[in-house]
Amino acid sequence: MEDNCTSLVAEAREMLGQVSDRAGLENAKAVFFSANGKVRSLFKLLSAASSEEKPVLGQKINQCKIAIESLFAEKLRDIESREICQNLGEKVDPSIDVPTSGGVHPLSQIQETMVEIFHKLGFTVALGTEIETGWFCYDALNMPDSHPARDSHDSFFLSPGLQIENISQHSSEGYILRSHTSTVQVRTMLAEQPPLRILSPGRTFRRDTPDATHSPIFHQCEGLVVDKNISVADLKAVLDFFFKELFGNRCETRFRPSFFPFTEPSFEVDFRAPHLGKLGNSWIEVAGCGTVDPNVFISVGYDPEQWSGYAFGFGIERIAMLMYGIDDIRLFYQNDTRFLRQFA
Ligand code: DAH
Repeated sequence: MEDNCTSLVAEAREMLGQVSDRAGLENAKAVFFSANGKVRSLFKLLSAASSEEKPVLGQKINQCKIAIESLFAEKLRDIESREICQNLGEKVDPSIDVPTSGGVHPLSQIQETMVEIFHKLGFTVALGTEIETGWFCYDALNMPDSHPARDSHDSFFLSPGLQIENISQHSSEGYILRSHTSTVQVRTMLAEQPPLRILSPGRTFRRDTPDATHSPIFHQCEGLVVDKNISVADLKAVLDFFFKELFGNRCETRFRPSFFPFTEPSFEVDFRAPHLGKLGNSWIEVAGCGTVDPNVFISVGYDPEQWSGYAFGFGIERIAMLMYGIDDIRLFYQNDTRFLRQFA
């Protein structure tokens, strides 16, 4: 009996393989599901079975029927898709699960919000390039070749010998994908004269193995202010305002002494939001910042005696994960509409 069932499913699969339109499907249906059809005749076998055999046999035949029905349903979907394509006269895949209207990606939403907040404080957006040279990414930011800070900034190197217009090479080392948006500090200072007040969101790259908190491609937002008599107090006030706008007035920020080659002194920014459930329990590190190191000013030809400034940088994914309670960074890049639809 088991064999009968298996071979009937195989037979249905084979017959449906030859079917390409509704007429063919109706013919096949008659062969299997009409009063004298093959599925019916399986059920007829039941009456000949003993009363102990009947329940097991009945279950087998039912499973067989369900399997054949689902093959027919699949074929019908196939035919319908093909008809839609023919009617539209172009290649489309109607089976793709597309929401009725698109939505802005959560990372882009957060990015837009960040830009709006800093806009209130007079910042304008400056963009750099994703392909960079080591000079912009490291040297000009006070991270010379042998500097240990370069280790954590290991990135992807492009083929040696490549020449890209508009990205001048300061050495023969070739191009890399930028490991942070701090490169835009350098690009902007070279192109413009102070005072400056810029924000630079964008894509960044590091040689990291993907896991719940790491991705080789991620996003950062950089800020830079250059003016006369700039102090750490200005920096603290601006970041405090930013986090309060983003997470609400009851959130707090604190500066913790740290080290970055391009700022002196440097700080990590921690934040705490007692009104946001889990986020309230402890200080969470969210950004790096400091006042611009005089060596950076020297790299771009600014006089460090005349100008002062501050800079900060944070990961956009990190902020989005805290804001929405997302626990795996990879969700941002998988294009799973079930995830994305929650933000549309
Ligand atoms: N560029 C740093 C990084 O990717 C982040 C950062 C720290 C940026 C301190 C800054 C800063 O502008 O002042 O780790």
